[in-house]
Amino acid sequence: MTQENLVVRHVQPGDWSALYELSKIELDSFGKDGLTPLNLSLFARGGILLGLFLDGEIVGEAQLLSRANSGGAFLFGLAVAQQCQGRGYGKFLLQQVIEELKNEGCQWVELTVAAENEVARHLYENSFGFRQIALIPGEGDSDLSPDASSDEPRLVLRKELCKAVL
Ligand SMILES: CC(C)(COP(=O)(O)OP(=O)(O)OC[C@H]1O[C@@H](n2cnc3c(N)ncnc32)[C@H](O)[C@@H]1OP(=O)(O)O)[C@@H](O)C(=O)NCCC(=O)NCCS
Repeated sequence: MTQENLVVRHVQPGDWSALYELSKIELDSFGKDGLTPLNLSLFARGGILLGLFLDGEIVGEAQLLSRANSGGAFLFGLAVAQQCQGRGYGKFLLQQVIEELKNEGCQWVELTVAAENEVARHLYENSFGFRQIALIPGEGDSDLSPDASSDEPRLVLRKELCKAVL
């Protein structure tokens, strides 16, 4: 796959046209759980919001959170537009995410993924060597969690990025 026209860039909190495009990918990927332009803007303020651009068009995104002095980061979400999936773009985006975190001095990255999301699990576990460190059970039927997505168990995955120098 040629990747010369693929670029990963930070999306700014006030770039509403980009945030709107990202929210469409969120809606297609995660339905009601998808982030709105406003919530994506908050991610861009409080964390890192990355857009994957193909010839200037947004085709993917990732959101990262990091607590000061924690030494690592949490990958909140990663998605590629449906019509562009299966072309290696997810791998390209995740590689750029990892490079970005290494440059920031992060030593690890964690994320959660639905246990049944085979493509995402393949990407994280097989392609990038993430390891399962915990299981979050589904919440079952609950008045507090009416969304079907919270019924699904999720895995917590972690990847070490580099060893701390002693
Ligand atoms: C998960 C996702 C980001 C992967 O991005 P992608 O661009 O489709 O994936 P890639 O083409 O880069 O492929 C990554 C790996 O998965 C494999 N893969 C891709 N599509 C696949 C499919 N339909 N079935 C099986 N394996 C598949 C590829 O072969 C590759 O593996 P390899 O490293 O062994 O060659 C994308 O499918 C997506 O956005 N899904 C919806 C949102 C989502 O579930 N995000 C993750 C939430 S935690």
